[in-house]
Parts: sequence; C-alpha cells; structure tokens
Amino acid sequence: TTENVEEVHIFLNVYGSRFNKFRNVLIDSKKNSSPHLEWLEGLLNSFCYQLIIITIIADYQCQSALSIFPLVKSQPGAPKSPQEVAELLIEHFPSVSAVSDIGLTGPGFINITFSPDFLCKLMDNIYRNGAVFPKPSHKKRIVIDFSSPNIAKQMHVGHLRSTIIGDTLSRVFEYLGHEVFRLNHVGDWGTQFGMLICHLEDKFPDFATESPAIGDLQVFYQESKKRFDEDEGFRKRAYKGVVTLQNGDPTVTRAWKLICDVSRAEFQRIYDKLDINIEEKGESFYQQFMPSMVQYLESKGLLTIENGRKLMYCMEGKPPLTVQKSDGGFTYDTSDLAALRYRLIDMKADWVLYVVDAGQSLHFELIFEAAKLAGILDPTKHRVEHVAFGVVHDASGKKFKTRSGETVKLQDLLDKAVQHAATIAEEKRAESHEPGSSDVSGKHEVIAYSAIKYADLKNRRTADYSFSFERMMSLKGDTAARLLYSYARIVSISKKAGEFLSGRPPLEKLYHPSEVFSFFRFHFESYDAHSLQIKLIKQTLRFPEVVRAIVEKDLMPHGLCSFLYNLSDTFNIFYRDCKCVEVQEGTVIKVNINRLTLCDAVAIIFRQCFYLLGLKTVDSM
Ligand code: ARG
Repeated sequence: TTENVEEVHIFLNVYGSRFNKFRNVLIDSKKNSSPHLEWLEGLLNSFCYQLIIITIIADYQCQSALSIFPLVKSQPGAPKSPQEVAELLIEHFPSVSAVSDIGLTGPGFINITFSPDFLCKLMDNIYRNGAVFPKPSHKKRIVIDFSSPNIAKQMHVGHLRSTIIGDTLSRVFEYLGHEVFRLNHVGDWGTQFGMLICHLEDKFPDFATESPAIGDLQVFYQESKKRFDEDEGFRKRAYKGVVTLQNGDPTVTRAWKLICDVSRAEFQRIYDKLDINIEEKGESFYQQFMPSMVQYLESKGLLTIENGRKLMYCMEGKPPLTVQKSDGGFTYDTSDLAALRYRLIDMKADWVLYVVDAGQSLHFELIFEAAKLAGILDPTKHRVEHVAFGVVHDASGKKFKTRSGETVKLQDLLDKAVQHAATIAEEKRAESHEPGSSDVSGKHEVIAYSAIKYADLKNRRTADYSFSFERMMSLKGDTAARLLYSYARIVSISKKAGEFLSGRPPLEKLYHPSEVFSFFRFHFESYDAHSLQIKLIKQTLRFPEVVRAIVEKDLMPHGLCSFLYNLSDTFNIFYRDCKCVEVQEGTVIKVNINRLTLCDAVAIIFRQCFYLLGLKTVDSM
C-alpha cells in the first residue's frame, strides 16, 4: 500500500529477501478480514512463499499460482484450480497507484500493468536524481581478485578477460553501495623467480649498483628458461634460489624487486589504457603468513607427508594440495590458502571472488574445501566463489596465438585495435568527403578499448568466444561502436535543442526539470506516438533489476549488455518515429520538450551502463 516509488519498485521486483515484502502485504490484507487467505498465510510462512516468482514480460507476470496450487489443493477450503489461486491473489492484491491493471491470463498467470503515472514518476526520479540506487541494508565487504598476471611473463588474453570482467563486477558492487577491495594477486613468488634471479646474477653481477638492461623481460625470461631446461646445474641453483628468496635473503630480494619493477611498469601501462584501478597484493605478500599457516594445518592434523612434501588431501578422489615442497619452498596452493585466510579473517571480507579462467576450477575447489576443513571459511557466513570464464579464440576459432605460435602480447593487441579504429574512421571520412579532424587520437582509443571490453562482456562469462576486430568495431550488430553511436545521437539531440531553448526565455523556464516533468505527465496520454514512448520508458526502467540480477544471481555481466543493446534499439525506433526536434536548413525551429526530457533520462541510464561496463563515451562518431 506504499506510495514510495522505490518501495513499490522493489516490491514488484521480487528477488531473494524481498519476497518478505510481498508476504507482508498479503498478511496485512488478511487483517482486513479475509478468511480466504488463511491457507495462504500458512503457506507464506513456510519456505513455499519463495515460489512466488515474478518474472518480467513486458510489464510483469506472476506465475506463482501454478506452483502454489499443487501444494494447497488437498487442504480444506483450498482453491480448485491454479486459476482460482490466481483469482484469489488478484482479489487480495492491494490497491496501489503504481498498478493500473491486474488480471488473469492463461492457465493461471497474473499480468500486472503499471500505470503511466507511476512510470513517469520513476522516470522523473531518474531525470532529477540520476541513476541512484538506495543504500544496501547490509553493506558487504567484497574482495575481488582479478587480473593477476605473472611477473616476468606477458599478460595474455586470459588476463585481459579477468581484468575486464573483474573491473565491471567491482564497478557494479561499488555502485550498489558495497565496499570493494580490488586485489591484483600477481604471480611474483613462484619457481620462475629462482631461474630469473640466478640468470640475473650471472649476466649482471653488478645489478645491485647498476640498473641492468632487462627492459625486455620476456626475452630475459626465455633465456633463463632455456638454461633451466638444458642445464642441470642451473636448474638446481634455481630451485635453491626460490627458497633463498622465500627466506628473505637481502641480495636475492633486491634482484627480485628489480625484476618485479620492470613488469609492474608494463602492467600499469595496460591498466592506464583500460582505465583499471587495482591494488597489487601479490603472492609474495602472503609469505609472512605461510609458515604459520602450514604449522596451523599440521597442528589440526590435516597434513600428510609424502616424500618429504607436505600435502593436504581435502576431497575424495581429487589430488591433494601441496602446501610445502621437500626443499621447504611454498607453492601457489600455500599462497592461495594464506591469502584466503587473510581476506576472510584479517580483512573481514564477507565475499571473496576470484575472477580466473575456468582452467583453474579444480585448484579453487580444493582451496575452498581446504579452507572449510581448516575452519577458515564458514559457508553460512561467507560467499567465496570462483568466477570462472571461458577461452578466447581467434577469428577462425583456433587458439589465440601469433602467426609464429606465441601468445599474443596484450600491448600489441591494444595497439592493433587502436590502429583498426583509426583505419575505419579514415575510410568513413574518405567516403563522406569530409575534412579530417586534427585531434582524433583519443577518440580512436575510446572506440578501440570500448569495443574490446564490450565484445568480451556481452558473452556469457563462462562461454568461449572468438576475437575479431572487424566484428567488434562494426556499426552493425551488437557492438560498443553501435552503442556509442546511439548515445552520441541522444546527446546531440539534447545539445541542439538546448541551444534552441536557451535562446527563447519562455521555453527555457519550462526546461527546469520539475516543470518539464509535470508538463510531461500532463501530456503523456495524448501523445501521437504514445506506445513507442511507453516502450522506451519501460525498457529504461528495467535498469535497476538488471543490475541487481548480476549481484543476486550469477555474477554474469552479459545481462547488462543485452539490456543496453535493447535500450539502444528501442531508442532508435522511438527516435525514428517520434520527432524530438524539428530542423529547418540546419537550425532548430521546434522542440518537443516531453520527448527531449525522455531522451535526457535515457541518456542518464546509458551513461551509467557505460560506466559500469568500463566504457568511455564520445560526443560523435
Ligand atoms: N597468476 C595466476 C595466473 O596467471 C592467476 C591468479 C589468480 N588468483 C589467485 N588467487 N590464484 O594464472
């Protein structure tokens, strides 16, 4: 019975705990004498009320009558068919101004239609206050472990996926009001360091005083790997080197730092380009907790010693974790266990999410199970999840490699994308015979990076996908380029109209948001192209539920992409058929304030979606 816009919206937007609201409303209406609801109350008080599912089809459709019926049919006085259940639900539906119509269809579906007035109120809210979300009732502390490349090795497309998906999830959680810790769990503590450091010692014995030329770490890494593979003596030294590093030897630590710095600078260049904000807390950070971690597991009797290695068997039929090697060195498993403990206990995280390729599922399954056995992870309190993603193929569907068979360097990939965007722009310019603009370099980058991000995010996270510059930068199809184009169009309408309005005082007064909206509401029903506008409004208003679904359902960002794509489609149809401004010989002569306001509110949602997807906008394409 509330008139509060947000509450009504939540109420109709039933997910998870918000089922309670629905229940309360029904129980309230029971108080106003309604014997029919007795059976329903019992039902609602049990877990069964969760069966009331409201899904969205155009407006809303409640399909619960069908699932309630078999549960109650044997009770005395219960309805005789799903339709009767639906009729009862309809009969007791509170009268809210938000809902203009509620009715039965088919075998017991309840269709709910919003009143135009309510829709306008919601749009008004967006137009005035922006796309703001109410603060969450429980602010969560969420660690997102993403990107996490390996020092001295190149970042590859797998790390690119992790970076893009992790960044978007972080943005979504932050937007919903949670506290997010974006952690870069870089691989800076493994075996590769033994060989890198020994190689450095041999090639640059003065590395402590002189900065050696290991600018191309990749080459340096390959050299040391070659020695490691071919030279038994070197290999032994390298293994010892890892342990020396893990024991904190000052000279070896200096060499290690040097190598890390070179890599770090390279990673940062990529993060700057992609506008990624992340804090480095690599494997090495957890070294301080590893010895005590192993001791703790030992004291709980969770470890088995085999050939001098300390193993933890945590799942039947699955391989064990190696928490300490026979030479005393720690492993990827040890650092991940120590990291999870640190995040849950020291950082007091409620959720810890690992955005890592699906190839590592077993590793995480074992780590989570081990943490449960060790009493670190409490599944009733913590949400700890491997947010897995699929593989990227090249355009022909093969594994993503350079022509000579090496992994594609991320840096090269990004440069190539910008080049591609520039070529397309140049072709278009040549076609249209317009003079080229002198300052377009920033624009090509926005288009290129947005294209890459969107082409990744629009896929179901867990699916594999193929990478194609042609496809991702096309103005046709589901691409960032097309979305940026739609957005640029909305902005240009506003700009044109704004110039016109500011030259005409009486209309300028109208342009004040609140007045525009009362005007807007007033004329709403009498529009010539009424249905297209309602359609655009309804599509726009799905935004909050789309964002919530990412968090409450499956941590999949592709729903936000399809929402945006549909929004842009709906907008383009609206724009084609509903004139917002009338132009004569290049100047605006008439403005439809209602439509213009609608455009502005839609633009707000566009911008918010772009922000959440990490895309930047351009004013023109
Ligand atoms: N560095 C690892 C890799 O490149 C990813 C690390 C993911 N995070 C973690 N906590 N294990 O495969």
